[in-house]
Amino acid sequence: MKIAVISPDTHHLSNIQDILAKANKPYSIVGIIGGVQQIVAVVEQEQPDLLMLEGQDFSPADLQTLNRITSRFPELGMVLLCPPQPTEHLLEIMRAGVREVLSTPLDSNTLIKAVERFQQRFSLARMPVNQCKVLAFIPCKGGSGATFLATNIAYALAALENKRVALFDLNLQFGEASLFVHDSPPTTSIADVARQIQRLDGTFLASSMIPVLPNFGVLAAPEEPEQALEVKLEHIKLLFQVAMQHYDFVIIDIPRALNAISIYVLDLADLILPVLQQTLPSVRDAKRMSKSFHALNYPDEKIRMIINRYEKNADITLSDIEETLNMKMFKAVPNDYAVVNKSVNHGIPVVKLEPRRPVTKMLQEIAHELSHGVDQRSLFKKLFS
Ligand SMILES: Nc1ncnc2c1ncn2[C@@H]1O[C@H](COP(=O)(O)OP(=O)(O)OP(=O)(O)O)[C@@H](O)[C@H]1O
Ligand SMILES: [Mg+2]
Repeated sequence: MKIAVISPDTHHLSNIQDILAKANKPYSIVGIIGGVQQIVAVVEQEQPDLLMLEGQDFSPADLQTLNRITSRFPELGMVLLCPPQPTEHLLEIMRAGVREVLSTPLDSNTLIKAVERFQQRFSLARMPVNQCKVLAFIPCKGGSGATFLATNIAYALAALENKRVALFDLNLQFGEASLFVHDSPPTTSIADVARQIQRLDGTFLASSMIPVLPNFGVLAAPEEPEQALEVKLEHIKLLFQVAMQHYDFVIIDIPRALNAISIYVLDLADLILPVLQQTLPSVRDAKRMSKSFHALNYPDEKIRMIINRYEKNADITLSDIEETLNMKMFKAVPNDYAVVNKSVNHGIPVVKLEPRRPVTKMLQEIAHELSHGVDQRSLFKKLFS
């Protein structure tokens, strides 16, 4: 951290520099003889993180200059060192954007503590932002298995890959995603979050979701379809803004309809995973959907089509589909009526219910690849060549 100290008095300046040097911290310190008028030059030349300005008195003109400086360099920390000030003057100093005022003559401990407080805020602000991935699952045709895959892959990411996962059911009118991984109906939904949007932060979001696992929550669709009307695009935007700071994966189950909300989510998604089956109507709809994605200017790498209920010997083969859609499929999830039906009927994810079945193994593989960023296409080739 770089600290610039400005003071009109040589003796005071070296005193402050000495105290900072004795703190035994890796601070880089520059000292300048001067006052308010020197600040801009010092900031532009030295680019300090923290500026300490020492002086006897700060006139209204000085405060105006300080105000301009704190607005122009909002990242710069500013500490004023001056004799004790009356409360009204302190308030004016604060209004000029100065967050800390220390009284002189200086007590070295107070000075070091103030710098440490700034250092803490400074480190927090520079912590790498959470690298959240947004995955949107969308059925090419109704009943393709998008909800089954979204919920079960979300569960696998949390249970097996140790990721913090949030799943949002954006089938606002008839969504039931939570029931795929949880055995009782939800008590809160996305409509409750929309109604209290001003309270939304990480804690409120977590408490509004069904805690399937300590690191996996589902934000359910509203119980009553008419409540869906309460959820607006503005709410969804805030929901993502908050969620992306707290989770490694935000998984979205979205309906087929293209509307303002679904397009917002598709734009935002790192990957879109359309789900289709080996039937002509499904492939036809997949073709239409991929045309829409083209029209929306999504790059091919953003789309990862999944064939669900895959049967090797079906009339329409994998290569038929790839040829028709002119696109490699990301994965093929085996058909397993007995296991999937049991899982869906009991609200128990297949990873927990039947970990050894081929359908489960494929979901584990998908979760693993999504969390490790392996080149999915080459792996797919290996599996089906
Ligand atoms: N791999 C599979 N093997 C066998 N059955 C499956 C498989 N995947 C899904 N199913 C069955 O298909 C049904 C429909 O799946 P799901 O509700 O996930 O589809 P969807 O694409 O979300 O449909 P909707 O358009 O209603 O949102 C599920 O109830 C499940 O029983
Ligand atoms: Mg669904």
